[in-house]
Amino acid sequence: MKVLVTGGAGYIGSITVEQLIKAGEEVIVFDNLYQGHRDAVHPDAIFIHGDLADKAAIEEAIATHKPDGIMHFASYTLVGESMEKPFMYLRDNIVNGLNLIESAVKHGVQRFILSSTANLFDQPERMPIDENERIVPGSPYGESKFILERYLHWMDRLYGMRYACLRYFNACGATEERGEDHDPETHLIPLVLQVALGQREKIVIFGDDYDTPDGTCVRDYIHVVDLAEAHILAMRALADGPSRRYNLGNGRGFSVKQVIETAREVTGHPIPAEVGPRRPGDPAILIASSETIMRELGWRPQYPDLRTIIETAWRWHRAHPDGYEK
Ligand code: UFG
Repeated sequence: MKVLVTGGAGYIGSITVEQLIKAGEEVIVFDNLYQGHRDAVHPDAIFIHGDLADKAAIEEAIATHKPDGIMHFASYTLVGESMEKPFMYLRDNIVNGLNLIESAVKHGVQRFILSSTANLFDQPERMPIDENERIVPGSPYGESKFILERYLHWMDRLYGMRYACLRYFNACGATEERGEDHDPETHLIPLVLQVALGQREKIVIFGDDYDTPDGTCVRDYIHVVDLAEAHILAMRALADGPSRRYNLGNGRGFSVKQVIETAREVTGHPIPAEVGPRRPGDPAILIASSETIMRELGWRPQYPDLRTIIETAWRWHRAHPDGYEK
């Protein structure tokens, strides 16, 4: 199988590329390196330094390499930032995604996987959240992903391009060689580990007055290798099966305080924490039900345990205290 991966130099994209190559697949990475890192791209992947805003560039990449499938990771991904920069998120995520989808249809690509998000579920009526939950995007970011999900629905209906939308809950963890390196970093686990590395004085907990057992937000943390595996299973299933949507998490929630406490145990560092105000746009609890992908594709997380997840991240951050070479 030949797979074109947009955003293959980014966190989840680069680790999915690593797993694809391990599984013996051929990979072409298309990335503008705006947020990604050249060093994160697996040496066995073909690398194209290109921007999805440049429609001719993505068309040429698809026409030249004729992939069997596309995995689309390249995107702005921060809920909070999207509340401050709605036009950037709504314009760039949607227009770039559409350039890619249109080129894929034009060149007869049969399979497409979209990185989607738990931010589709801002007001869940049931917890854990399954695929039948009502979609209420929680931010311009979530809305941009929902609109791309809808475009894919029409591409299947009109042109028979099959797709899978994978709605990630909180991606985290690392492999030996690849990990999380955002600039600026905003995610809880890498920030907590920066405190343990002595790069930051403390972690600020965004609110402790939520309606949760300890007052801090509860999230479903899922290891990035388990996410990568879900992409590979979904891509294979699309070869002879219908389009699909899956929520991806471990089905267990951990509070911000529990994450910090676990990181203290893993690192042996006291990790000072202080409570600050809530961050706009944060729902109190997000936990996924991944029963559907387990039942349909036999997906089983290899790293469901929070401690193991943090241990893998800690190993990578200790080995790469400054992240990838800039
Ligand atoms: N948090 C803190 N302090 C920090 C950073 C985070 O208390 O310094 C808290 C947040 O308030 C939240 C939790 O830690 O309750 C996790 O926050 P992250 O920023 O790590 O992750 P998010 O849940 O905000 O967002 C992630 C992805 C999004 C995706 C979303 C889906 O970054 O792309 O999960 O739920 F949309």
